[in-house]
Amino acid sequence: MRITPFAVEQWMNAHETQCRYNLAETCVESLTVAELLDMAGQRASILDELLPLKMTYGAIEGSDRLRTAIAALYDSQAITNVLITHGAIGANSLVYQALVAVGDRVVSIVPNYQQHYSIPESLGADVKLLHLRGENGYLPDLEELRRLVSPSTKLIAFSNPNNPTGSLMDRAFLDQIVSIAASVGAYILSDEVYRGTTQDGDTLNASVADLYPKGISTGSMSKAFSLAGFRLGWICGPPDVLRAAEIHRDYNTISVGILDDVFSSIALENRDKILARSRSLVRRNLTTLDRWLQSEDSLSYVKPRAGTTALLKYSFDIPSREFCVRLLEETGVLFTPGSAFDVEGCVRIGYANNHAILEEGLHRTSGFLRRLAS
Ligand SMILES: Cc1ncc(COP(=O)(O)O)c(C=O)c1O
Repeated sequence: MRITPFAVEQWMNAHETQCRYNLAETCVESLTVAELLDMAGQRASILDELLPLKMTYGAIEGSDRLRTAIAALYDSQAITNVLITHGAIGANSLVYQALVAVGDRVVSIVPNYQQHYSIPESLGADVKLLHLRGENGYLPDLEELRRLVSPSTKLIAFSNPNNPTGSLMDRAFLDQIVSIAASVGAYILSDEVYRGTTQDGDTLNASVADLYPKGISTGSMSKAFSLAGFRLGWICGPPDVLRAAEIHRDYNTISVGILDDVFSSIALENRDKILARSRSLVRRNLTTLDRWLQSEDSLSYVKPRAGTTALLKYSFDIPSREFCVRLLEETGVLFTPGSAFDVEGCVRIGYANNHAILEEGLHRTSGFLRRLAS
């Protein structure tokens, strides 16, 4: 199978461990194991739980304990609607492998994580891109979506909250997408790794899995839960889709690690504390970013409603990759070029990392912008 290289992952692989100020990071600042155990009140007792564990493959589809905790993130899902995967990246791949065949139409709302158009393209699907525009607050134009779907449409894909723009489709908006999908019998794949990082409110934003019988939600421990090191994700959706995904999963996953399963269960059983920390971090950091942007004439953005990232438009006539390489070389600050998302004239910032790193990174970027302008 031939596939287009994954631009954003290649950029991160090349630079993220070498930069000094990582403003390309998309996880809410990661937790240490000690911080997680302190939040869960299990620092003293954890070894009693871990030491007796025999290192078998474990429960193949994920433990009942873990799948129960994941089902509880949704309004109307049971553990039979949950399949454990290697991160959300594994979840998304499995959904495409399970559902998409040569000639199927896939409508992919972009910019988005590249899996959502390059994998279906590699499977021979007829991929139609619906481009989000800043003037619409980076929400999809529903008339355009209606024109793009057809009876051959197998799936409509998007991320919600959106990476990279930080836009958020609320329940009423999702209901309209559901009715368009239902009109042609298409599945919806909603990548919800940033679910729970809203700027307003203290409840989880609506999930497509709860709104539509053919709605599939993918999620993981990485972003809103700040635990990417566990490499644990899931598909939440109709059991027949999970059965089809399992056929591929037997070939490429078998199971996830038992320790990942146990620690993720502990984290999800304490989800209120973790998500409260995440919300407080994304809100404080977005306030800092917003204040900074107001003093930078060469930059503009649509303020995110959720997620951990924003697209910053710049007024210089220079390709986004060159912008980011020069910024990194001159200041040690890492952004992600818009070109990694097939959009030019802008860069993506991940603002949910450590607050001190964000402040220093923005300060150094100001100096770079002044030099560019002169
Ligand atoms: C929208 C989206 N989906 C999936 C992933 C992959 O996440 P995971 O670490 O759970 O594999 C990312 C990572 O950046 C992402 O932004």
